[in-house]
Amino acid sequence: MAKQTVALIPGDGIGPEVTRATQRVLEAAGAQIDWVELVAGATALEQGHDNVLPQRTLAAIAAHGVALKGPVTTPVGKGFKSVNVQLRQKLNLYAAIRPVRSLRGVNTRYEGVDIVIVRENTEGLYSGIENEIVPGVVTSLKVASQAACLRIARHAFQYAQRRHRGKITVFHKANIMKLSDGLFLDCARQVKKEFPQVEYDELIIDAGCMRLVQDPAKFDVLLMENLYGDLVSDLCAGLVGGLGVVPGSNIGDEAAVFEAVHGSAPDIAGKGIANPLALIMSSVMMLNHLGQTDVADHVKAAYNAVLAEGKSLTRDLGGSAGTEQFADAIIAKLPR
Ligand code: NAI
Repeated sequence: MAKQTVALIPGDGIGPEVTRATQRVLEAAGAQIDWVELVAGATALEQGHDNVLPQRTLAAIAAHGVALKGPVTTPVGKGFKSVNVQLRQKLNLYAAIRPVRSLRGVNTRYEGVDIVIVRENTEGLYSGIENEIVPGVVTSLKVASQAACLRIARHAFQYAQRRHRGKITVFHKANIMKLSDGLFLDCARQVKKEFPQVEYDELIIDAGCMRLVQDPAKFDVLLMENLYGDLVSDLCAGLVGGLGVVPGSNIGDEAAVFEAVHGSAPDIAGKGIANPLALIMSSVMMLNHLGQTDVADHVKAAYNAVLAEGKSLTRDLGGSAGTEQFADAIIAKLPR
């Protein structure tokens, strides 16, 4: 197979560490990829760009259509607009797909978790429309458009059908946000009629969260708007071993950006102890998207074997291996 070009944004914090480890694993597995390295976030500003999301970075992802991205730190309460939110909005990466499953060798309170979160990625409260009405009173607009709600619902149902998933549950708060979440629900109900073979259910999100921690194995595909998807993604990560083991992708019609759910983890950055698995798992999703399915299967089998063996786990999973050691253990399990 000819090499495929992929844009690579190492990010900051633990980003460069987990990105290098991921590249090493993919190379050892024989992935046919030409990397084009790009910058974003504070790294872009440090390198003299006048924007955290330089035009060159955006244009390269749009041109190549696929990117692998490490986490990027976003300042809290001030400073630049999140690179992640900008990327998703500017490239119209409207669907965040986040599979969460129990892994043999990763000990948690739960067994048999196999959930896929489908999160609307472009609007809701992430529209960034905030105003100070009068001093001391601010508003933040939650945007829901019929087009975006229908689009994400259709994506979720198509995903469920393609992957032979039996059921979609929508988490919402339409009892309070009657118009915005009401529209989200109406659109999901409308699309559901096109997919009679996929079971459908709705839960008010607070009750949904309780049910998730009581019995997560009961859930299959979860569909929700932007903020709920963000929060529930981390909750679900906690069910299966934490942020170090949950991959993600941001999919649009023209481009796809693969990245872990976790952030830049400033508390452990530069120490060589971050778990690279979430980004490695994200890169497996990317390989499947690129059609390099054999390589994807080999990497997946290798990390499953390392986890099951339990000898080279990183600290977040109760072991003592560093980022590179964990990557080496995966490489050692790849077919020669
Ligand atoms: P975080 O995900 O960076 O860290 C939360 C906790 O999980 C920390 O204790 C961290 O050490 C641990 N953790 C995260 N990833 C880990 C890994 N791979 N291995 C081992 N432990 C890991 O979340 P936090 O602290 O809320 O955010 C830090 C920064 O990252 C913020 O600026 C935030 O905006 C940004 N962020 C960026 C994302 C992205 O670029 N996609 C996603 C989420 C947050």
